[in-house]
Amino acid sequence: MCSCINFSNLYKSTYPFFKKSAFLLDAEVAHELTINSMKLMGKYLPNHERADNFQVKAMGLTFDNPIGLAAGLDKNAEAISYFTHLPFGFVEVGTVTPLPQIGNEKPRLFRYPEEESLRNKMGFNNLGADKVLENLKFSNRRGKIIGVNLGKNKVTPNEQAVLDYRSLYKKFCDDADYLVINVSSPNTPGLRDLLKDKGLREIFEGLAIERVNKKIPLLIKVSPDMGDEELLSTVALVNEFSLDGIIATNTTIMKDRGDGGVSGKLLSLKSKRVREILLKEISKTHSKAELIGVGGISTFNDLMDFWKAGGKLAQIYTAFVYGGPPLIYSFESLLKAEYNKRGVITFEEFHDSLNIISK
Ligand SMILES: Cc1cc2nc3c(=O)[nH]c(=O)nc-3n(C[C@H](O)[C@H](O)[C@H](O)COP(=O)(O)O)c2cc1C
Repeated sequence: MCSCINFSNLYKSTYPFFKKSAFLLDAEVAHELTINSMKLMGKYLPNHERADNFQVKAMGLTFDNPIGLAAGLDKNAEAISYFTHLPFGFVEVGTVTPLPQIGNEKPRLFRYPEEESLRNKMGFNNLGADKVLENLKFSNRRGKIIGVNLGKNKVTPNEQAVLDYRSLYKKFCDDADYLVINVSSPNTPGLRDLLKDKGLREIFEGLAIERVNKKIPLLIKVSPDMGDEELLSTVALVNEFSLDGIIATNTTIMKDRGDGGVSGKLLSLKSKRVREILLKEISKTHSKAELIGVGGISTFNDLMDFWKAGGKLAQIYTAFVYGGPPLIYSFESLLKAEYNKRGVITFEEFHDSLNIISK
């Protein structure tokens, strides 16, 4: 396809119509149709013009820009070629489990349009590690960073969870740029118990053995429903086992809304609290861990708040469902405007120009 097309304008004019039609459908049906068309389109779309001055260096990797796609939208790594054509700096696929899994009963994805939020109880539905790896290998990454989010199968008891994470680490460590241990989804019974010290320690110990053979950036994704103490001890464990980062946060449980996890604006405050605690602790303990912020980040102001709190890399999911590609293009142009206002040229300079709260 001709690269002279202005995709920012094209998406701006077409997305409202697309969204209106998609929102007439059941949320999961709309999701599946969208992923299938992205899968098709991705093959023919040109690269996004990259600007070196948005680059972020973290965990030994160079990210094109600080805004990534969060896990769960492209669970099976089917639409990487589409997402990397947008001005995303990185894309996280998964959650992938060792064996294929159908997930929970439908309906399991619900919209709250007035609150720009979602609730899901998907339950790690995915095609399994073999198929996801194949998709990953044959995707067009356009030189961008691809993370793979790892989960245990529902049938695997918690005592054996470490075996699932070890087999997934081995399977994906040659093809992913970073890996994420996901024990924070509210939709696999008992999974969050593994966020407690004993569970995490066992998984980190198991993966330490694999990391001797092949070391790639390894992160842990945490829950917004964790208490202060739990968060502090997670940072201590991350430091002890030299993990490369923490992704904060997954979805939150809001019993009054029903089962599953809530994301988007309704999650914003809880997620922000967790990020601020973690950033302070990371700074206080001189940790080398990176914090990737996700959860209720919907506007450029939310991004600015996160950067001012000391974070650099951020991910979005729900805001992308509501705002689509135009939102990602707007982040890029607003960041450019912010650079101009501050008279800076690189992301490092921009970050240094902020009054970082956590320092
Ligand atoms: C429908 C749906 C499915 C998700 N699936 C996953 C998943 O498989 N693995 C994961 O780590 N997070 C998953 N998430 C959580 C997101 O990655 C993200 O952490 C969360 O939605 C908060 O970000 P947001 O407010 O920008 O959506 C899912 C979220 C939604 C809405």
